[in-house]
Amino acid sequence: MSDHPPIEVYAEIDSTNAEARRRAEAGESGPVWITANRQTAGRGRRGRAWSTETGNLAATLLTTTDVAPAEAAQMSFVAALAACDLADIFLGPEAARLKWPNDVLIHGRKAVGILVESGARDDGRLWLAIGIGVNIAHAPTDTERPATSFAEHIAGAPPKPADAIEVLASRFEAWFKIWMTQGFGPILEGWTRRAHGLGERCEARLPSRTLSGIAEGMDTDGALRLRLDDGSVQRITAGDVFFGGA
Ligand code: BTN
Repeated sequence: MSDHPPIEVYAEIDSTNAEARRRAEAGESGPVWITANRQTAGRGRRGRAWSTETGNLAATLLTTTDVAPAEAAQMSFVAALAACDLADIFLGPEAARLKWPNDVLIHGRKAVGILVESGARDDGRLWLAIGIGVNIAHAPTDTERPATSFAEHIAGAPPKPADAIEVLASRFEAWFKIWMTQGFGPILEGWTRRAHGLGERCEARLPSRTLSGIAEGMDTDGALRLRLDDGSVQRITAGDVFFGGA
């Protein structure tokens, strides 16, 4: 018996997150993993596009929760830890690091992106679409910073998306159980242990301005603590963070 929700596979779809939203708005509660071998309109954070070619993995967990939206947002870090495990399992321990908030980097370059969308259901509960895009076989070339794929770091053939989603769904389930029983503490600890660039200078591009400072760590609500040059701490809750190379 599998230890995770059922996995559905589409050969091609516009976006697994869009499909999760359509189903949620039609009343489906999940949990179910919706995956696709190819996305024609994959979406990324901050309105960007996300390309998924055959050989890569596009997966969205549609689920429903009773917890408040602010707490439910912590599930993006549950997903980040699961994706980091996925990379470590196929590429070797310590290959993957997490860049705030939830990008997985392999040797400094992005290989996994996560987009969580949510909405209120008619019954008052919250639906969540936890979308995870994994560059297994191909890395996009049209990104602001160079991206990478699992294949670039594996001597033999990269994993098949069908095998990768089994591992990802199992690791998500394991971290999800920890989050449900012990709260955000162990998730924050796991994220911090694998974080990229803590203690280093970075540039935080916020919706309205850009700040530069030292990334000190993540707060319990998921905000990044940035120490500015005047000594004050700015909490970053939305935006992109760039370190020297990533
Ligand atoms: C990012 O910008 O880093 C987030 C990318 C998220 C991509 C995944 S692929 C599966 C799911 N479906 C989508 O359309 N987007 C997410």
